[in-house]
Parts: sequence; C-alpha cells; structure tokens
Amino acid sequence: MIRVEDSFIILETKDLSYIIDILPSGKLEHVYLGPKTKSKLSDLKIKLDTMVGSQVLYSDLEPISLDLLPLEYSSIGKGDYRSMPLEVKMPNGSFVADFCYLKHEIKDGSLDYKLPHAKNATNTIIVTLVDKVNNVYLDLIYSSFYETNVFTRKVVLTNKNENSLSIRKIMSMMLDIYDKDYDIITFDGGWIKETNKHKRPVSYGLFSISSQTGASSNRHNAGFILSKKNTTEDYGTAIGFNLVYSGNHYSSIELANHGSIRVMSGINPHCFEWDLAENENFMTPEVVISYSNQGLNKLSHNMHNFINNHIIPENFKESLRPIVINNWESHMFDYNMRKLLKLAKRSAKLGIEMFVLDDGWFGNRDNDDRGLGDYFVNKKKLPKGLSKLSKRINKYNMDFGLWFEPEMINVDSNLYRSNSNYVVQVPGLEPSKGRNQLVLDLCNKEVVSYIKNELFKVIDSANIKYIKWDMNRSISDMYSESISNQGMFFHKYILGLYDILESITKKYPNILLETCSSGGNRFDLGMLTFGPQIWASDNTDPISRLKIQRGLSYLYPLSTISAHVSQSPHSQTLRHTPLETRFNVASFGVLGYELDFKELKPYELKMIKEQIRFYKEHRRLFQFGTFYRFDLDDIETYQVSNSNTHILGRFQVLSSPSPNIEKVSFKGIKEDKMYDVLSRRSKLNIDRFGHLIKHAIKIPFKHDGFVMRNVARYYVLENAKEKYTLDSNALLNGFYINQQFMGTYYNEKTRLLGDYGSELYIAKEIRNGKN
Ligand code: GLA
Repeated sequence: MIRVEDSFIILETKDLSYIIDILPSGKLEHVYLGPKTKSKLSDLKIKLDTMVGSQVLYSDLEPISLDLLPLEYSSIGKGDYRSMPLEVKMPNGSFVADFCYLKHEIKDGSLDYKLPHAKNATNTIIVTLVDKVNNVYLDLIYSSFYETNVFTRKVVLTNKNENSLSIRKIMSMMLDIYDKDYDIITFDGGWIKETNKHKRPVSYGLFSISSQTGASSNRHNAGFILSKKNTTEDYGTAIGFNLVYSGNHYSSIELANHGSIRVMSGINPHCFEWDLAENENFMTPEVVISYSNQGLNKLSHNMHNFINNHIIPENFKESLRPIVINNWESHMFDYNMRKLLKLAKRSAKLGIEMFVLDDGWFGNRDNDDRGLGDYFVNKKKLPKGLSKLSKRINKYNMDFGLWFEPEMINVDSNLYRSNSNYVVQVPGLEPSKGRNQLVLDLCNKEVVSYIKNELFKVIDSANIKYIKWDMNRSISDMYSESISNQGMFFHKYILGLYDILESITKKYPNILLETCSSGGNRFDLGMLTFGPQIWASDNTDPISRLKIQRGLSYLYPLSTISAHVSQSPHSQTLRHTPLETRFNVASFGVLGYELDFKELKPYELKMIKEQIRFYKEHRRLFQFGTFYRFDLDDIETYQVSNSNTHILGRFQVLSSPSPNIEKVSFKGIKEDKMYDVLSRRSKLNIDRFGHLIKHAIKIPFKHDGFVMRNVARYYVLENAKEKYTLDSNALLNGFYINQQFMGTYYNEKTRLLGDYGSELYIAKEIRNGKN
C-alpha cells in the first residue's frame, strides 16, 4: 500500500513501513525503513539544526547540508560528498545536477516496464524530480508487495533538453541509514564454488561487490544483506537487497562521516556510458528490498515468497517441477541413439519424468572446440533426428528436454564460416577465446533475430518440454559495430539476451526453462523472470553443495535451485560420499539425476527408486515449503515445512569420535498439536565399512573377497529406524534421538552416519488420530 499524507510518502506491506519526506526544497529525505510504525511521522525524522565545520549548505532558503541528510537519491555538486548514485554529464556540460520534487502519481499494480521486473505489485508510486536548469527528469519508482513484505525501486532518467546528455553511472536505488553495528553478508565464489556466504563488519570507507564479466557472475551474487551484529537465523535485524538484472552489477556500502551508511545497487558503471538525446530515456533494473527483525530466516521467507509469487513466470507459479535425468555426466559428447535410449529406459523404470539431452547433439559437436552456433542435428549421433528421439522418450512416459548455448559460437562452425561478423570482437584485434568459444554479438539485432529463428526451428521440430539454456564463458573484446557508443555494449548485450528469452517464453509459455552458466555463473532475478529454475553449480558433490545451496537459500527459494545426484567419487572434488547424502542434499531443491545408471550396483538402483518415490511424496514441500536454516553447527541442519508436515535434514560433514548425545528440534511448529516423528529409513552401502563389516553381519567371509564383493552389490545395511510421538513443545524444545555410533558397540538402534553421513526426520501432525 502506498499513500501520501501531507509531505510524507508512506509505503506499507503487511509488516513493514518505508517512509519518505518531501522537504520544502524538493529534496527527498529518507525517514524510515523497518517494522510497521504508527509513530507521528515528523518525530521519526532526523534532527538537524546546526551547521558543522566545512559543510556546504544547500540554499539560503533551506540551510541544510545534503551531506548529513539521509536522502532517497542524491546527485553531484550540491554539498553531498558521499558516494553518488548518479554521474551524468548534463546537457549544459556540467556534472552538477540538482533534482528536486516535481510531482507524484500512484498506480495500482506494477508498471509496464521494458526490463524484467516483479509483477503484480500491490501498488506503485512514481515520484518525478526535475533538474530545472537542464530540463532533465528523474523518476524514482517504488512498488510495494504487501503480502511478501518487499519493496522494489528503480529509476528512469529522461532528457527533455535539445542537447544530449551522457550517463556514466546510474544506480537503481540508494538508501541512507544512520545506525551502528552492521555487518555485510555477501555470497561469493567462482566456478564449482558459487555463493559461499561471507560476512564482515561495515567499516569506514567504501565496500563494493560487483561483476564485470558481462554476466551477474559467480564471483559475487548481486544479492546481499546488511545485518545487525549478533543477528542469527532467528533473531535480530537484517535488510536484504537483490537486483533484477543478469549483467554487470555493482553494489556499494559506504560508512561515512557521522556514521552515515549509504547503500546503492544497480548496473556496474565499469565501461558504461549511455547518451540520451532529446526525449530519450534510460531505465534502470529493479532493486528488491526486504527487512526482518526476526533474523535471517524471516528475511529469506520474504524473499522466497516474493520470488515464487512475483518474479518467476506466471505459468510456473507453484507448478511442481519434474525430476530429470541429464545425460551430461553419463556421456559428455560421446553418445548415439542406442546409448540415449538405454539411459532413458533405465531412468523411466526408476520413476524419472524428464529426459534432458545435454551438449553435443548438433552440428559437428564432438568436442567443446567445435559446433557451437550450428543448431542442426548431428546425424551421426541421431540419424533420425530429435523428433524420433523425443517420440521414443515419450513412449517411456517421460518428457523430453534439450540443451542449448545460443549466445556462443566456435570458429569451427558453419555459422562462423558464413557470418564471422556475428562475433564480438574489436576490429583488427584477435578476440580471446574462453572454453574454445567466442561470443555472439547480442547487441546486433540481426544476430538476435538469427538466434531466435534457429531456436524456433529446433523447438518446433520435436516435442520439447524443457530447455536448458547455457552460457559458458565471460565476455571479452567487447565491441559491437551495431552501436555508436561502446559504453553501451554490456547493457545492450543483456537487452539482446532478454529480447531472445522473451520471444522464446512468449511463443512457448509452457516450456520449462532452466538457465545455467557453467553452473551458477548467472544465478540472478533477471534470469528467473524467464526460467523458474537455475542450475546452481556444476559441482554436485553434496558437501560442496551444502555451502552453495545454503548460500543461495538466503535470497532464493528452493524451487529455483536445480540440484542433481551424481556419481561418487565426485569428478571435481574426488570425494566419496554416500548415495543417500547426495540425495538428501539434492532433495532440498529441484531434484534430478546426472549419472549413468548402468554403472550402478543393483542395490543403488533400488535406493534411487525409493528416493524418487519419497521425493514425489513430499515434492511440494521440498520445492515450495517454508525453508528454515539452523545456525551453523557440527551438523548442518535444514527444515522444510507446510501446515502439517515438517522435514528436517541433518548433514554431518565430519564425524567426531565418541560424539555428544544429540537432541533435535524443529522450527515454526504450531502450538498444541501432536506429531508422529519418523526417521527416513536410509540404507548404507556395506563395502563402505571394509573389514569392520564383520561386526555388523556375522558372516565369516573376507571383506574384500569375491563373495563379499558380490554380496555388496545387492545387500545394504539398514540404518536405525526411529519413531516418536511428541507434542509441539517437544518438537520446538528438542527431543533425544538414538545414539550415533560411539566408537565401539553397534546394534540395530545405532545411527550410523560417519563422515558425510546425513539423515531426514519427518514430523507429521496427528489429526483425529491420523496423519
Ligand atoms: C556447462 C554446464 C554443464 C553442461 C556443459 C555442457 O559446463 O554447466 O552442466 O551442460 O556445459 O557442455
């Protein structure tokens, strides 16, 4: 809800208020962001009545220093010396800009906006500021999303001057806070180690996270959090920010004079320059802001509900996602129809619902140094084409999905031979390669329409229900002949990408689009407006995934996190992990499998069949339930909940000798209810225990002999099964579980976890004696 009372603009959600004051000078003071307030608004304002030292006062009529004021948006040259959201060479040639309030307008819903944005806002206010000297307008656009406790912000700059202006920096939002003891939480990493959480105190100077690879990148996710010291998962204050954008981003936090904290976020000004002629405008991407005074979990709940309801495409709202088998880790480039169908048949028997054909199906693509750009079927691998393959897959009662990497090209391709001018390169300079490939020039409309048409042809040629959209290198040699100012390159590239994605999703609204960029190199809200899920990382090792998925979970819901079970030892970490742990981690996300079933032992196939059955039974909970993190401990713990079922995942990274007695507790449990709590009966591979197996099964065979090796193919050890009847208080306060293996005795009640072991507990409310 948004309303204006006297000089105050008041934005509200179910639990939050955001308050702005329009000052007599026309500057906008940021008054408040926090839990809903009924205070007298003027009493919430900053109290400033003396001049300090070398300060510059705004004007004789309003003798205030902009350097001290918490502002909604600032500009250069009128006495505010903190970092600036806007750097524009104005039509008069000066960098000085003086934007003041002109008018406002409140509208229902979200605005029609050319960039990806959140839909179905409760309402929106456009506050128009003007620099009268230059006749340039700045719209500050705020939306409120009542139910999900989110505000969004963005700005539009319009030049009404006959002379052009040049933008060098234009942030989507700025927020000034006066408060102490904040930490900054960011989510950083690289390939196969994305979104690891890092925290450091806000301290004097300017701290920034950014990307300049051409994508939102795996180096720093665009989302970040400011949290008060000692904020935990369930207590304390946190403000979360994220950007609906897939290109170079920049966010900064500055602690300046008098304890002012200035937060900004938007397009990275790196290599950015955008000219506006008369009557042209520039729109920034949208920033998402939420606030919690109940810890980080509550902040995540706001963000999760918001993304599930306002960011992902309407058609996939709450729609259950299929369990996929992706053939990449099974075959890489080496396959034919027979191999694919074998994998498909085995997958179907296990209950898998979608067969995804990954890289290598087109052109001359037998390796990663050729074929990109040529989206015609490789007849050696698939002589009867995609249509035949998809039909055969459908016969197994599975849907068919296909991989593309449409933004890229190999020099060894027909497309390059015929249209080398489609490539991003500086005239006269040899372009640098990444993963043996070059980048297609998405700034160029001809290239954009070529890609669209090629994709349409392939999609129309078979029964395709899912697309994996990949992008496997960073951008270099940025230059496009189609633009006059190369400062527009990075943003124009993203606009070209959004144009293609929009055409695809409009023409095929029911195709499930999963985006990917060497894993999570473009995990952002912009991509999520087109495809509701993202391949979180090429790293499927469950222990690495705990960090990656935990990091993502702060700002992204489980329904967006694509997570597959793959083979052990893991191809990137060389770690051996139990199959059940690989599943338990992947189940806190959109589950899939990426391994060759023919290499598995019969008991492993049985386990997978049971895993899939279990996931299907609880799929809605795993994909759309309320997700809780527990504060980090020896055992990493997650929970998903709906109104009457709660699943707790407990992950032991390393076992401790003679471990502590353990109690477990659940979060968010309704009062005065009774529950059945069951541990999911997991299976243990007996060859994991080597010679120790003689203590568990009393058969006198050599543990590495022929008989035992064969027994190990079929026989598995059942882990302890636990069942408790408990009330809400016991669930909330904690209850004892069976002892973990303590170093000596073992019986059927002993929980055997070991290194990388994990377990799931399911609590179901008992209603009328049943659950
Ligand atoms: C990237 C993706 C992988 C796979 C390969 C195929 O690395 O992240 O999942 O699709 O490309 O080349």
